[in-house]
Amino acid sequence: MATDNFAPNKNWWHHSVVYQIYPRSFFDSNGDGIGDLNGITMKLDYLKKLGVDILWLSPIYDSPNYDNGYDIRDYFQIMTEFGTMEDFDRMLEEMKRRQLKLIMDLVVNHTSDEHPWFIESKKSKDNPYRNFYHWAPGKDGKVPNRWGAAFGGPTWTYDIITGEYYLHTFTSKQPDLNWENPIVRQEVYKIMRWWLDKGVDGFRMDVINFISKVPGYPEGHVDDGRQYSDGTPYYINGPRLHEYLQEMYEQVLRHYNIVTVGECPGAHLHEAELITNPARKELDMIFTFEHMNIDGGRRQTFASVVHSGNHEGKWIPKLLDLRELKLHFTTWQKGLIGKGWNSLYWNNHDQPRIVSRWGNDSSQYRVLSAKMLGTCLHFLSGTPYVYQGEEIGMTNVRFPLLADYRDIETTNFHRDAIQSGVSLEEIMAVIYRKSRDNTRTPMQWSGSLIHGGFTNGVADVKPWINVNSNYTDINVEDALNDSSSIFYYYQKLIQLRKEMSIMVYGNYDVLHEEHMHIFMYKRFNEGIQEIIVACNFSQQSVTIDDSSLNERFKKNGRLLISNYDDNQVNNKSDWLHFRAYETWAIELPVETE
Ligand code: NOJ
Repeated sequence: MATDNFAPNKNWWHHSVVYQIYPRSFFDSNGDGIGDLNGITMKLDYLKKLGVDILWLSPIYDSPNYDNGYDIRDYFQIMTEFGTMEDFDRMLEEMKRRQLKLIMDLVVNHTSDEHPWFIESKKSKDNPYRNFYHWAPGKDGKVPNRWGAAFGGPTWTYDIITGEYYLHTFTSKQPDLNWENPIVRQEVYKIMRWWLDKGVDGFRMDVINFISKVPGYPEGHVDDGRQYSDGTPYYINGPRLHEYLQEMYEQVLRHYNIVTVGECPGAHLHEAELITNPARKELDMIFTFEHMNIDGGRRQTFASVVHSGNHEGKWIPKLLDLRELKLHFTTWQKGLIGKGWNSLYWNNHDQPRIVSRWGNDSSQYRVLSAKMLGTCLHFLSGTPYVYQGEEIGMTNVRFPLLADYRDIETTNFHRDAIQSGVSLEEIMAVIYRKSRDNTRTPMQWSGSLIHGGFTNGVADVKPWINVNSNYTDINVEDALNDSSSIFYYYQKLIQLRKEMSIMVYGNYDVLHEEHMHIFMYKRFNEGIQEIIVACNFSQQSVTIDDSSLNERFKKNGRLLISNYDDNQVNNKSDWLHFRAYETWAIELPVETE
C-alpha cells in the first residue's frame, strides 16, 4: 500500500469527500412539504455511514425564494421554512459530534432586491447605499447596454424612483453588488467572519468570478437576429477578481482553518491555476463548467435562444463525445496537479442527474452505469463532490405539465420558447433533458411511504415539488438493504480514497486517449505505485488491445473495485473485454530495476 510522502502541502480537505445537500428537498421533519434543518440533523447518521466528511448546504438564509435561496434578504437569519437559528446550532453541534464539517453557500455577487441595502439604494442617487449596487443612466432612453441575463431577459432593470437602471446578471430580483465599493467588501467579510466564528468550516462561493465588472459596462457582441448581447466578457473573470480574492484571503480566510470552493462558470484552466495556486492566496478550488457544457451547443441555433433570450446553449441538444470529456479531464488533471487543486463533480442542484445524462437510467443499466460514473470521478485527483441522491442513482424526472416545474430558469425558458413559436413537444423534450428541477425533486428515502418518505409520511401535505414517481424502485431504504447497491459502492469508493493516498496525491495520465467508448487513465507515483482505472461509457461490449497492460496485470495485479460481480477481472481472463458500462480499478506492481 502507498506511503504518504507525495505531497508537500497537505490539507484535510484534499482527502475529504463533500456531500451537497439541497435543504429544500432533503428531508422534511415537520410535515409542511419543505425540507428543513432538523430534517438534515435527523439524517446525519446516514451521511456518516456513507463516509463523506464535509457537508455543503445550498443557501439556508432568509430569502423571498425567487431563485430558491440564491437571492438573500438577510445573511444573518435562517429561512423560516427551514427552521430557526437554534435548529442551526443544534445541527452544527450534531455534525461536529460526528466529525462532519460544514460548508455554507456564500451568495455575494448579488443579494435579493428585498435586502435592506437594495431597498435603501433605490431611494435616491445620494443615498449612502446607492453605491452598494451598479446603477447607470439609460442611453437614448434605453438600457445602458444590451447584455442578456443568465435566465433570459436583459441584465438591466429600470427603476422609476431615480430614473436609472440597476444591473443584475441573473433575474431582476437579484441585483449585483458593487464590489468596487470597499464598504461592500467589508460588509461581505463581516458576514463571512460571523459564520466562521460560529464554527462553520468554509464556503462554497456562488458565481464568485462574476464579482468584478469592467468599468463603463462596454457593449457586448450581438449575434445576428438576437435581442441581447453577450456581456460575459465584461463581468466574468473581471479585471479586479484576483485582487478581491486576495483581499478576502488576507482579511478573512487566512485566519481560519477552512476550505473554500468558488463556483466559476466560464473559468478555464488558466483562471483555475491563478485562483487555486496556494502561493497566490486566493481560494482552495473552483467549480469549472467546462465539462458540464460539453453536451450543450452554446450559442447555436434553436429558435427560442436565437430570437428572444440569452439563455445559454445548455438547452440545445448535443450528444456527449467521450473524447471531449477525456480531453477536459486530462487537461485539468495535468494542469493542476502540483499547482492548484481540482474539484470533481458530476452533479449539483443546477445540473441534470448524471446517470440519466451520461449513464443509462433504464432498469437494466442504471446501477451499472451509476457505479461506472462514480468510479470515473472518484479516482481522479481533486476533491470529489456527491450530490444528494447520486449515491442511490436517482434519475431525471419527466413531469407531464409545465405547472409541475418550479425552477425560474426552466419556466423563463419555457415562456421565451413559446413566444418564439417553438413546439411544446420540443420544449418539454429539452426540459426533460436539462431542467434544474431534475435534481431538485425530493430525496427518495423509502419505497413504501407516501412521497418517498420525504415529508414524514403525511398524506395530505404535498412536497413543494413532486417526488419522482420511481421512488418505489429507487430509494435509500432499498439501497441500504442491498449489499450490491450503488450506496455501498460509493461507500467503498470513499473508503478507498481514505486508504490510498495515491488517489489523492498521485500523478495522472490518460491511456487509449482516442477511444470512443472507454475512458482509461492511470494514477501513479513514479517507481512506487500505479493504479489503472477503466470505464466503459457505452452499452456496447468493447475490447481493448493492450498486451503490456495485460501482462503486467496477470503477473501481479490486484483488483480494487469493479461493478460486475462475476470476477472476470479477478480471474484475469478476458478482462480487457468490457461489457456494457463495465468499470474497474486495479493496482499494478511497479517494476523496479
Ligand atoms: C449559481 C447557483 O448554483 C444557481 O442555483 C443560482 O441560480 C445562480 N448561481 C444565481 O445565484
